[in-house]
Amino acid sequence: MNKDILKVLVDEETIKSTVRRLADEINTAYKGHSKRLILLGILKGSVVFMGDLMKYVESSIVEIDFMKVSSYGSGTVSRGNINIHLDIQRKDIADCDILVIEDIIDSGRTLSYLVDYLRLKGAKSVKTCTLLDKPSRREVDFTPDFVGLEVPDEFVVGYGLDYDEKYRNLPYIGVLSPEVYC
Ligand code: PRP
Repeated sequence: MNKDILKVLVDEETIKSTVRRLADEINTAYKGHSKRLILLGILKGSVVFMGDLMKYVESSIVEIDFMKVSSYGSGTVSRGNINIHLDIQRKDIADCDILVIEDIIDSGRTLSYLVDYLRLKGAKSVKTCTLLDKPSRREVDFTPDFVGLEVPDEFVVGYGLDYDEKYRNLPYIGVLSPEVYC
């Protein structure tokens, strides 16, 4: 195990079974209802989860797209404002069902903002899927449509999640040792 990791919170097997369960739920929800489903990954944290999840999503047309927004400063404290650094590439989303893919929801501000933003842009529907949810940290009233696992208010890294751009490549989700960021 990486020396900076205090403990493994979600091991590889649990991640795999959670991804398959989420894909089953998504397939059931969209079965026969979606002509064009866009899986919209929010960079950078969602890329590992998105790459695994998309292999099991069935729809007549599945596209992938990405946005990059910021909700955190350089440390561990969440900011209130959302900045768009990279917008969705598809210009016309009027006939598209969009499923926003996140690695984690914390305050809820990022997804709350993105759902409003994509609806205003004219998407046919907008739903949200997150691998991890920290409901104890919520600052706005927001409930994702598909949730992998609820996690406690600990600093988690791995499987796409970072601290200072490190640890995204860990195959498991672990709790970062406080000595690393204190
Ligand atoms: C994280 C995460 C979500 C957001 C959640 O991204 O991937 O996008 O924060 O926080 P919120 O619910 O408080 O809005 P981050 O800004 O750390 O960027 P990254 O994905 O590039 O690591």
